[in-house]
Amino acid sequence: MLLPIYLYGQPVLRKVAEDVPSDYPELPQLAENMFATMDKASGVGLAAPQVGLALRMFVVDGDALSDDYPECAGFKRCMINPEILSESEDTDVKDEGCLSIPGIYEPVKRPKWIEMKYLDENLVEHTERIEGFAARMTLHEYDHLDGKMFIDHVSPIRKQLIKSKLSSILKGKVNTSYKSKAIR
Ligand code: NI
Repeated sequence: MLLPIYLYGQPVLRKVAEDVPSDYPELPQLAENMFATMDKASGVGLAAPQVGLALRMFVVDGDALSDDYPECAGFKRCMINPEILSESEDTDVKDEGCLSIPGIYEPVKRPKWIEMKYLDENLVEHTERIEGFAARMTLHEYDHLDGKMFIDHVSPIRKQLIKSKLSSILKGKVNTSYKSKAIR
């Protein structure tokens, strides 16, 4: 089932999400719906707040990027109640976008690798070191769980440049190829 994607301005995107309780109903089904929604929108990551659920859960699939980023080959994960155990001091800067902020791509500085602990959709625990663009995707989605968006990392000057695009989204003057939910 495809879910509508909540756009910039929706309050749920600015909430600190709650841990997913272990008795949450039909988690594998929710993960499947999130993967389907992300694929349909040609995204590589989608967090639960982006489908209106203030839950600490996201999906990522970097396989389509593996020509440019070999570390993304087969990197398809559902992460529930994730924790960042460690991250590199080394950083790099690459453009990011977000299905909740259509049409905006901006450079963001992120650690080059991270170590994550999380549960998968069957509540099996994993600990994993994640590199390069796969780490970037994971951190972008993790930010969503704390009510943060990639534009929060953008410099004040760049932010000024995207201001009018952001206000268009707030006014609902935005077209997406996928089902979306603006605040008006
Ligand atoms: Ni995003």
